[in-house]
Formats: sequence, structure tokens, C-alpha cells
Amino acid sequence: MAEQIQGDPPREAPEGVKLLLTRTAVRQFTDQPVADDLVTLMTEAMVAAPSASNRQAWAFVVVRDPRTLRLVRAFAPGIIAPPTMIVAACFDRPRATLDGGEGADEGLLCLAMAVQNLLLSAHALGLGGCPVASFREEPIRLILGLPAHIEPVLLVPVGHPARRNPHAARRDANEVIHHECWNGS
Ligand SMILES: Cc1cc2nc3c(=O)[nH]c(=O)nc-3n(C[C@H](O)[C@H](O)[C@H](O)COP(=O)(O)O)c2cc1C
Repeated sequence: MAEQIQGDPPREAPEGVKLLLTRTAVRQFTDQPVADDLVTLMTEAMVAAPSASNRQAWAFVVVRDPRTLRLVRAFAPGIIAPPTMIVAACFDRPRATLDGGEGADEGLLCLAMAVQNLLLSAHALGLGGCPVASFREEPIRLILGLPAHIEPVLLVPVGHPARRNPHAARRDANEVIHHECWNGS
């Protein structure tokens, strides 16, 4: 389950909020496979994300075969250590833009929300993961057999953490959060 890691300030908060506050990117994994029931829970959480006009213009490929994992990683420098599972989060552009052109940006936002659900559910289950945008699209398309209209956007290695990172620094809240208006308190 979600644990306190070094650098976490002590907080009194409901468990659900603590979960959000304690997630960090996990990039190194043990070789313990992710159990099927956990994969099911995470994929259910993933597709429960909000979706503009409920179009769900997304598609996901869950990779657990060791050979495919090695191949994907070979073309994804952003995946720095071998995982036991990678979820390729893909955008279904035609489904997002059914009404003629509009909706692509919103569709990508929905995909990002689905990936966040994946990361948070992994964290809640004692696992971890990291969104990875650093990969070569064409080889990944070929390896995963993606149809032409499906665009891989993020690869998400997920697994049992070998180590957890301390919190990455955040910008000062006063600099980024405004109340009531831009120059409000
Ligand atoms: C769209 C996106 C792309 C990312 N791509 C990579 C990547 O290619 N490689 C990597 O190691 N981390 C990647 N990250 C993870 C960020 O580096 C990480 O979220 C950030 O440093 C904050 O750390 P935290 O997630 O532990 O809070 C990406 C994150 C996002 C949101």
C-alpha cells in the first residue's frame, strides 16, 4: 500500500488525498511480475478517467511478454530500467474528432487523465510507474502492431518498485496558485 517516503512532510489528510501526495515516479523495478488481478484493477481505474463528451478516444496495449518488453525498451530511452509490464497509452484521433477536426486537444487531455489513474492505482496497490514520452514512435508502432489511426503517446512502465524516488521539487505554491484572481492572495 502507499507508503510515506523520505521527504514527505507529515500530513493529516484522508487516505485518498495522502495517496495523491505520496506518489512519485518509479523507474526501477524488481523482477516480480505484476499479478493478473492487479493488472485488471489498474486497467479498470485507467478507463474510469473523465473523458470529453465521453468519447473515450483512447486505446491501451498492456505488454508483459519479456521479449516484447525488451523490444519496446530498446526503442524507448526514457525507460531507464527493465520493467515487468509496460502500458502503451494511445490516442484514437478519429474518435476524438468525429465532428470534423475539433477535439484532438481534449482527447489528449483525457488520455493524460487515464494515465494518471493508472499511476495512482498502481501506487495504491503498492506498485509504481512513470509516464515516458521519450520513445521512437515508428518502431513502437511496428512492435505493437498498432493500426494507422492509433497513435502511441506515452509508454508507462509499471511494476514492483526496486526503489522509490524522493519527491521531485515543486514550484512554490504562491507562484502557481492564485485565489479568486491572478493577483489575489
Ligand atoms: C508527459 C510526461 C512525459 C514524461 N517523460 C518521461 C521520460 O521520458 N522519462 C522519464 O524518466 N520520466 C518522464 N516523465 C516523468 C517526469 O520526469 C516526472 O513526472 C517529473 O520529474 C516529476 O516527478 P514525480 O512524477 O516523481 O513527481 C514524464 C512525465 C510526463 C508527465
